[in-house]
Amino acid sequence: MIQFQDAEADRALFEHALEFAEKQVASLIRLHPMYYPLYTQQGKWKHEGQAWTHWCDGFLPGMMWIFEARHNKASDEAKFWLENAIRYTEPLEPRKFDRDVHDLGFIFLSSYYRWYRLTREPRLNDVLIQAGRTLALRFQDKGQYLSSFVAANSLFIDIMMNVGIIFYAARETNDATLREIALRHCYTTRRYLVRGDGSTAHEGLFDLDTGEFLRQSTHQGWRGDSCWSRGLTWSLYGFTTAYEFSRDPHFLGTAQACADYYIAHTPAGGVPPWDFNAPLERRTQVDTSAAAIAAAGLLRLCRHVPDPAKGHFYWSTALRILETLARDYLAEGDPSWEGILKGGVYHIHKNLGVNESVMWGEYFFVEALDEALRRLQAAGVR
Ligand code: GLY
Repeated sequence: MIQFQDAEADRALFEHALEFAEKQVASLIRLHPMYYPLYTQQGKWKHEGQAWTHWCDGFLPGMMWIFEARHNKASDEAKFWLENAIRYTEPLEPRKFDRDVHDLGFIFLSSYYRWYRLTREPRLNDVLIQAGRTLALRFQDKGQYLSSFVAANSLFIDIMMNVGIIFYAARETNDATLREIALRHCYTTRRYLVRGDGSTAHEGLFDLDTGEFLRQSTHQGWRGDSCWSRGLTWSLYGFTTAYEFSRDPHFLGTAQACADYYIAHTPAGGVPPWDFNAPLERRTQVDTSAAAIAAAGLLRLCRHVPDPAKGHFYWSTALRILETLARDYLAEGDPSWEGILKGGVYHIHKNLGVNESVMWGEYFFVEALDEALRRLQAAGVR
């Protein structure tokens, strides 16, 4: 159900933010052709800072596919974005065999999947299916999980955003083994990384010989027993996707538990600290990318919850988050800043991309703005 109060103001604010996003992406690709950035340094995309892991290449073309779809097909803008979306998506194809990362969902669902949805060309679907099969090779039979890029004994909450490509490949090929791998990974993650209060751990460590779960741990969060805010939002969004593919109500319940934890522990504007449990003096840094992912995830989750009042609550929370991001964190006031959203964090302990623009924050912000605008428009808000 759409709440109409302030909806017209939201529509204007979100359209303005999307126009700014288009302008920033157009300027990025003009300044640095065929460069796929991860995070800014003092607002600049090109620098020598390390990647840590190579997972963001789908997000830049992903935004271009979204921009393309927003314009009239015959317009110069649509042609510009289509041409560039293809130019930036095609080079990703060899990554369908990449066994070094757990991120093939991030890379291909943002790029090739959007391209395939537009054209329905079978060769594009084949790329998606291969990416799903490759990711499934990370399955650890003893612990029943897809291992993270750091080691075979490591399970990351982030992988919930990637397991969708295995569900997808399973559905497209009618492959029951692939589907079982995806389901088992979700059950293991739910059991060991999502806590009773809906908070999440970043990483779980297993004994490779026995498959026994040993303990919760972290790389990007404050501690193994804390709740790293971006991990929580990967879980919120990822379990919603798992529910969409499987219709298993446990996954819907888990996504809701994560959403409820997020809402209960985040300040009123909807932008969380980088870790909910970092000591007060270390908690002042927000992570706007977590907020953007939460908004995008809530916009999907709100469609599935059986209680209409709860669904409406998630919808209006998503709008509130987007309002805060578009009003208080847009880089618009700073002409030297190359990103869209300020206040993102990549890896605080390695000092990578702290209080900067981050590519996934940009992508999920654009996705959520686009989705919110589509629904407002469908509800007749002008
Ligand atoms: N590696 C995924 C993230 O930083 O959230």
